[in-house]
Amino acid sequence: MDQQASRIAAMFDALSATYDSTGVDFFQPIARDLLRVMPPQSGERWLDIGCGRGAVTIPVAQAVGSKGQVMATDISPRMVELTRELGAQAGLSNLQVAVDDAQAPALEQRDFDSISSSLVLFFLAQPCEALACWLQLLRPGGRVGVTTFGAQDERWNDVDAVFAPYLPQEMRDARTSGAAGPFASDAAMEDLLHEAGFTDLRTVTATVPVRFANVEQWEAFSWTTGQRAMWLAIPEGKRDQVRAAAAVKLATYANADGSIEFTQGIRHTLGVRDPDMPHS
Ligand SMILES: C[S@@+](CC[C@H](N)C(=O)[O-])C[C@H]1O[C@@H](n2cnc3c(N)ncnc32)[C@H](O)[C@@H]1O
Repeated sequence: MDQQASRIAAMFDALSATYDSTGVDFFQPIARDLLRVMPPQSGERWLDIGCGRGAVTIPVAQAVGSKGQVMATDISPRMVELTRELGAQAGLSNLQVAVDDAQAPALEQRDFDSISSSLVLFFLAQPCEALACWLQLLRPGGRVGVTTFGAQDERWNDVDAVFAPYLPQEMRDARTSGAAGPFASDAAMEDLLHEAGFTDLRTVTATVPVRFANVEQWEAFSWTTGQRAMWLAIPEGKRDQVRAAAAVKLATYANADGSIEFTQGIRHTLGVRDPDMPHS
């Protein structure tokens, strides 16, 4: 595991306890939308890469049923433990969860029917090389679905701008949503999958509503996403100032009951392993 992956594993270990559990519907609706565009079939062998706390994994394991098989992997051992627990609580005996690096998976199984990966690819140092490894894990004719972020709500961007003066240069254009890099457009993502060897590429976009009950919930949520790194980049003594500036901006966008509703654009990039491509 390289330095970047170790840092990311530590970050997701640290936020795993609160991840996807601040009461803000975000990861689950995005996962549902991915499965809407690549519906799991009964009996499929499915790999979910960067499973987090199972937003994609658990519904897939339910859908493929006892004749199917789901492998879920993540770089964060805590995320893996939590998803394993969720699977056990749901009685999903077709589910295995393991620590593995999405950049170069160590998995030996190479006959998956489907690979999903929601909100993960932009954490990898070399996304195209990773996708080329994922291609080798699919059976010929198998499919992949990768979800990344689309356009940001301008009002949400305006709130996030309070972090800007404190961020080091490399964090100014976030890989998740920034204008630079391969995650900026539908075409750039399709090019990335094409370069990695996938065919039959297509993109489906959607807009997910995101509601914060109040400023406190916005902050709690922000500590459970990549924005945690932004909070940590701010000297502790200055965080109250940033919090107050965010609260002022959020107040301008709040509904009468104090809740705040933003939207998040998402992009699903879908591809296939050529049915005639033999395993190398
Ligand atoms: C934003 S979360 C998404 C989790 C889940 N797919 C979901 O939709 O809720 C990103 C996940 O990717 C994982 N991740 C980041 N880098 C990774 C890597 N190199 N290998 C495997 N997982 C990685 C993180 O640990 C985290 O659980």
